[in-house]
Amino acid sequence: MVKQIPSGYSLVRLGPADLRDAVEVDLWAFPAVETVDEMAAHRLSLPFDRALGCRADDGQLAALCSAHTFVDFPVPGHQIAAGGFTWMAVHPEHRRRGLASALINRHLADCAERGEAISALIASEPEIYGRFGYGTATWGYTLSLARRADLVALDQSGIDVTFETLDPEVHAGLVHDLHRAAAGQGDLIRPGWVSRTDVEAERTFLTRTSNHRRGLEPSRIALAWRGSEPVGYAVFARKELGWTDGRPDSKVMLSEIAYLDRAVAYALWSRLLDMDLTAGVMAHLVTPSDAIFGLLVNLSAAQPRLADTVWLRLVNVAQALAARRYQSPVDLVIQVEDSVLPANSGKYHLTAAAFSQATVDKTSAPADLIADSRALAAAYLGGTPLTSLASSGRVSELTPGALARAGAAFGWPVPASTSWIF
Ligand SMILES: CC(C)(COP(=O)(O)OP(=O)(O)OC[C@H]1O[C@@H](n2cnc3c(N)ncnc32)[C@H](O)[C@@H]1OP(=O)(O)O)[C@@H](O)C(=O)NCCC(=O)NCCS
Repeated sequence: MVKQIPSGYSLVRLGPADLRDAVEVDLWAFPAVETVDEMAAHRLSLPFDRALGCRADDGQLAALCSAHTFVDFPVPGHQIAAGGFTWMAVHPEHRRRGLASALINRHLADCAERGEAISALIASEPEIYGRFGYGTATWGYTLSLARRADLVALDQSGIDVTFETLDPEVHAGLVHDLHRAAAGQGDLIRPGWVSRTDVEAERTFLTRTSNHRRGLEPSRIALAWRGSEPVGYAVFARKELGWTDGRPDSKVMLSEIAYLDRAVAYALWSRLLDMDLTAGVMAHLVTPSDAIFGLLVNLSAAQPRLADTVWLRLVNVAQALAARRYQSPVDLVIQVEDSVLPANSGKYHLTAAAFSQATVDKTSAPADLIADSRALAAAYLGGTPLTSLASSGRVSELTPGALARAGAAFGWPVPASTSWIF
């Protein structure tokens, strides 16, 4: 059970006047080269409408958190409201006293009050959030691609790629629209592909990206066009790494790529992979739904390394299960165990035809499967198979065949993916 606010502290709402205090705590929690002033001036991504803090009795801000209000978070076959938990930070002097637990507790209650069936976050350390019922729902790859790595050639006639220096004022609207369109829709939606909440948030995100230099040139953007229509982009910056034996070591550091179809993906990736005076592309958070996995002739040469991206929590199990679609027919009773939000515990009768609206009812009928809430959350976007969760004991089959049927139904034709850290 999640704790309430510990004694010696009070829960407060934070507003823009608290920005410096918030940044101060954030810089204690997340070491960075920026000063409080620089960060207060540049990284204004803290959503103040949902910012919460814990103040010690002496007035010091000891911890904070906030949430993005995602109104159309993509889930299999649909888009739903989600709380995007963010800025969780506890000052080192106040750690391990239950402040983070209390703030997460408050965040989950806030999501429930707002009718958000799920909460999503990106974890700085994978050890933190499982205890609160979050499971890893999307995954991403780091790829190290050699210059001119072989790609399966696609027809890219009619597509032009232009290169510009990233200017958040100029590019935010275009990036925002393309990122949203790249989520796809219906049976081919990319679960987890959540966009920045609006153009203003996009501008902030791109400003943060451009300020996060770490030895990089100013951020650039490659824009793909079909005639006068923008159809894709890649945000990147080159890192100057000198020369070895007369050859350049510099790398193209890719921060985000989004496009409307695979021909555009090919056009963008092939340009990035052939930039003069570079040794290749270093790409983080490459989503499993990215076309590069089908385009690369030799994937293993890119040394793919897998890492968790979005951690998801079902705030309201019945609402969440009914909101998504299933990729095969399902008629099962799932017993859910949730020690953090006990109202979620119970047996749910889930029925749906493939790719159709589901029905979910609480029932007293015998269960076919038992799942803890963390496992169900991990499987929710279709990105973590129920069968793998069963191998860790978080899902148990009571009716023979139920795990295979549930595993098939909870999957999705397009891999779950998230392209940015929120
Ligand atoms: C991670 C962090 C938010 C935890 O804050 P906190 O107030 O110390 O957390 P709590 O006291 O509520 O601890 C809750 C539980 O999680 C555990 N825990 C917290 N952080 C952990 C970590 N990094 N690794 C493993 N366990 C951790 C605690 O031991 C405690 O376990 P218990 O309930 O069994 O006693 C804080 O240490 C922090 O700000 N770290 C740096 C920034 C960061 O990583 N933020 C998270 C961003 S996603």
